[in-house]
Amino acid sequence: MGVRDFNTAGPVDPSDHYCIPPLQRVDLEEILHLIRRQKYFVLHGPRQTGKTSILKALADHLNATGEYRCVYANFELGQTAREDVPRAMRVLLGQIAGRSEVMLQDTFVRDERLAILDEYGGDGALNETLRRWARSRKRPLVLLIDEIDTLEGDSLISVLRQLRAGYDERPDGFPQSTILCGVLDVRNYRIFSSSLGSNVSGGSTFNIKAESLRLGDFSEIEVRSLLDQHTAETGQDFDADAVARIWDLTRGQPWLVNALAYQSCFRDEAGRDRSQPIGIAAIDRAKETLIRNRVTHLDQLAH
Ligand SMILES: Nc1ncnc2c1ncn2[C@@H]1O[C@H](COP(=O)(O)OP(=O)(O)OP(=O)(O)O)[C@@H](O)[C@H]1O
Ligand SMILES: [Mg+2]
Repeated sequence: MGVRDFNTAGPVDPSDHYCIPPLQRVDLEEILHLIRRQKYFVLHGPRQTGKTSILKALADHLNATGEYRCVYANFELGQTAREDVPRAMRVLLGQIAGRSEVMLQDTFVRDERLAILDEYGGDGALNETLRRWARSRKRPLVLLIDEIDTLEGDSLISVLRQLRAGYDERPDGFPQSTILCGVLDVRNYRIFSSSLGSNVSGGSTFNIKAESLRLGDFSEIEVRSLLDQHTAETGQDFDADAVARIWDLTRGQPWLVNALAYQSCFRDEAGRDRSQPIGIAAIDRAKETLIRNRVTHLDQLAH
């Protein structure tokens, strides 16, 4: 038995999971070019396509070059603050603080954020923290914000505004580059602001955006390559018609491919016998099991 398996929960870790190297799924040269050119841009795609896996791999890549200080932050923590901007900023700055401590061994945000919140309030604290942080460090900051579109109304507007307001001070006085990642392209946000009593469009709030990169599903070649990793590590083959069935059932949806393969190779009684190839019947059984168990992402993906 190999030590890796198919991942069906959360971002991939290449040492634990069979995976397509996340940075091979995007045009890395283009992304590096945008970062070098100090652009703020968007990476978006449907649920469970590998966005977070890519951001985390990109952060590691950028930090390893030694040219940038890159921090990944997940803004979904701000969702339950709804339109309470001070509350949202407090938790988001806490998130940046925690992530930068772990990823960069940098305690600047941890040390400064409360005093800044006190002085500037939620409407300005993110902006001011990023200004001071950028100015106090030699290497340019790159900020990767995941789940930006889980924020609501005024909290989302405030984050976008605070980023825009510092844009002209980059790279010395603000992050050199920022990637906003979510399901939708910012341009398509229709944000209802309670304080303004009207809808605001993401496009106008964040008109500094240079590009939108969209992440899609696996190609047939990528599906094949993922399954081949299991074969290489365990000796267990997939029949050609089983591979074709996986493609027909998933059309390359990354999580579904993994879920079918995991169920048929690691849960299915017969499938766990590595001397037997995975046939089409095992894939169909796996499909039935996933539907019967109403596994977590199935409803979401159906949307
Ligand atoms: N590079 C990859 N190779 C193989 N499978 C992958 C890869 N990236 C993602 N997946 C599959 O997609 C699932 C979700 O990955 P990830 O959390 O990165 O996606 P996401 O787009 O951020 O999802 P969400 O929208 O729910 O936050 C993984 O559990 C795995 O099944
Ligand atoms: Mg994600």
